[in-house]
Amino acid sequence: MKKIFFLACVSALLCACNNNPAQESKSFMDLARQRYAVREYAQTPVEQAKLDSILEAGRLAPTAKNVQPQHIYVLQSREAIAKINELTRCAYGAPVVFLVCYDTNAVWTRDGANSGDMDCSIVGTHMMLEATELGLGTCWVKWFNPEEVAAAFELPANYKPSFLMPCGYAADNAQPHANHFNRKPLSETVSYK
Ligand SMILES: Cc1cc2nc3c(=O)[nH]c(=O)nc-3n(C[C@H](O)[C@H](O)[C@H](O)COP(=O)(O)O)c2cc1C
Repeated sequence: MKKIFFLACVSALLCACNNNPAQESKSFMDLARQRYAVREYAQTPVEQAKLDSILEAGRLAPTAKNVQPQHIYVLQSREAIAKINELTRCAYGAPVVFLVCYDTNAVWTRDGANSGDMDCSIVGTHMMLEATELGLGTCWVKWFNPEEVAAAFELPANYKPSFLMPCGYAADNAQPHANHFNRKPLSETVSYK
C-alpha cells in the first residue's frame, strides 16, 4: 500500500513539473491568436524533433486531388543561410528558412491555372501553426525572386519556389509589428447570401 502511495506521489510530481510547452494543450484559436510575423530571431538552433514535427504538420495538409506537389528545402547550413540572406532581406537572421516549392509536373492543373501556390500555402499554414505550438516564431515571405532562388539552390527545373518561411526562437526583444493588431471586422470581409 505504501509502495502504491509512493508511486502515485512520484507520478503526480512528474506531471506537475512537466512544463514542456509542446505538451500544453492549446486550442486552435489560442494558436491563431498567439502567432505573429516574427522578424527578429535568436541564434538558438531549432531542435531536430521540432523540425520533424513542423514538417509532419505540413505533410498532413490537404492538397488538390491529394497530389502533394510540395517540396520543402530546410535551409540551415551556414552556406545556405548566407545564400538566402543575399537573395532576400526578409530572412531576418533566422537559423532555419523553409523554402517551399511545388513540382510543376505533378501539380493539379486546370484551364491553364494550377493549385501549386494554394497547396503550398495550406502546407505552410499547417507548418506555421505547429511552429507556434512548439514555441517557435515564423514569418511568411514573398519578398524574393523565385528564378534567382531556384538558380542559387540549383533546384530541378520543375520545382517552382512558392514562398520562404524563416523559423526560429523569437529574439528576446521581438514584438509584433503594429500592423499585426489591425484586423478588419467580419462585417467588412464576410457576406451572407
Ligand atoms: C502571402 C504573404 C506574403 C508575405 N510576405 C512578406 C514578406 O515578404 N516580408 C515580410 O516581412 N512579411 C511578409 N508577410 C507577412 C505579413 O506582412 C504579415 O503576416 C501581416 O502583416 C500580418 O501580420 P502578422 O503576421 O504579424 O499578424 C507576408 C504574409 C503573407 C500572407
